[in-house]
Amino acid sequence: MTAVPLASYVVAPSLKKGTGKWVDFGEVKDLEPDTFSMLSYEFMVKDGWLVLPQRGFVWARPDTDNRIKVFSSTCTHLACNVIWQEESRTFECPCHSGRFDSGGNPISGPPDRPLTILENKIDAENLLVFLSF
Ligand code: FES
Repeated sequence: MTAVPLASYVVAPSLKKGTGKWVDFGEVKDLEPDTFSMLSYEFMVKDGWLVLPQRGFVWARPDTDNRIKVFSSTCTHLACNVIWQEESRTFECPCHSGRFDSGGNPISGPPDRPLTILENKIDAENLLVFLSF
């Protein structure tokens, strides 16, 4: 009985809509053209008396028209991390063999929704990505 309220208290902050921050991933010129680069992040989030680490990575690729396409690495099936495979030019999920094309669309395996596209902007030559938590 006591585990349910405690779990709700810890999980609830991550479910709030609109909570997140802009994360600086460095200079856009360092991104490889025509492929996805893995960009890692780590920061702490304070929520009341809790301070929790947020770690992970995103996938970013320079697009045409001076924009950057950024995907969440979170598989839309059960939230494992997808990995870009240059040979097949697909994202592959190691957990249940889900695959996504370079547009983030599911092409095989259990995922039935596309990868999440992350809001981003360029500020003073640096790539900033909005990460929700
Ligand atoms: S978590 Fe990715 S295919 Fe299941």
